[in-house]
Amino acid sequence: MKKKKFIVAITGASGSIYGLRLVSALMKFPADVFVLMSEAGRQVAVHETGFQFGKMAGYLEQTGVKNHDQAALTQIDPADFFASIASGSFQHHGMVVAPCSMNTLAAVSAGITDNLIHRAADVCLKEKRPLILLAREMPLSLIHLKNMVRAAEAGATIMPPSPGFYTRPETIDDLVDSVVARMLDHLNVPHDLSPRWPQA
Ligand SMILES: Cc1cc2nc3c(=O)[nH]c(=O)nc-3n(C[C@H](O)[C@H](O)[C@H](O)COP(=O)(O)O)c2cc1C
Repeated sequence: MKKKKFIVAITGASGSIYGLRLVSALMKFPADVFVLMSEAGRQVAVHETGFQFGKMAGYLEQTGVKNHDQAALTQIDPADFFASIASGSFQHHGMVVAPCSMNTLAAVSAGITDNLIHRAADVCLKEKRPLILLAREMPLSLIHLKNMVRAAEAGATIMPPSPGFYTRPETIDDLVDSVVARMLDHLNVPHDLSPRWPQA
């Protein structure tokens, strides 16, 4: 597979593990992976997963991820508006916000770009590049639902983290991987993370 560029943003919705495992999966391919964590995203990740480092590289090392020798990780401060990904002239193969808080969903659907996560997502929409929003809340208010419709109409893929049970998952890892697998499918990254239907 030719080297690709992906952006992964982790925001402050529950389910930080989806973003962390997506980054781990992407690092097993020849890819440049640009990672952003909102401040709420970092705090929720610490609370839910024991993410200790503030830095994704430390997480990958601690969890024993064996990076592809052509994979490169760049973590960017969401306040850094001078970063390459803030510009439409920076070409990449897709951005995922996983998990995506209702706050970030609202900003994206309204075209508000007051941090680099919002700006990079806004750039995806204007440049017609893939944007996947793993929007997580329960239940959903009418405002949340309308924001999802607006983002979808503008070109985003709304992918709620709703794992299927037809693969008979046995562990939480199985459930998480079934969602990460769908994100990788949408990024056109080959994987065997989760069984496909129909099962062999
Ligand atoms: C433990 C915890 C879980 C949260 N879960 C959610 C959630 O599932 N969905 C959501 O929209 N916000 C959730 N929030 C609230 C967001 O973190 C908060 O709205 C924050 O301002 C989002 O900022 P961000 O979009 O910049 O990450 C949670 C907060 C905490 C502390």
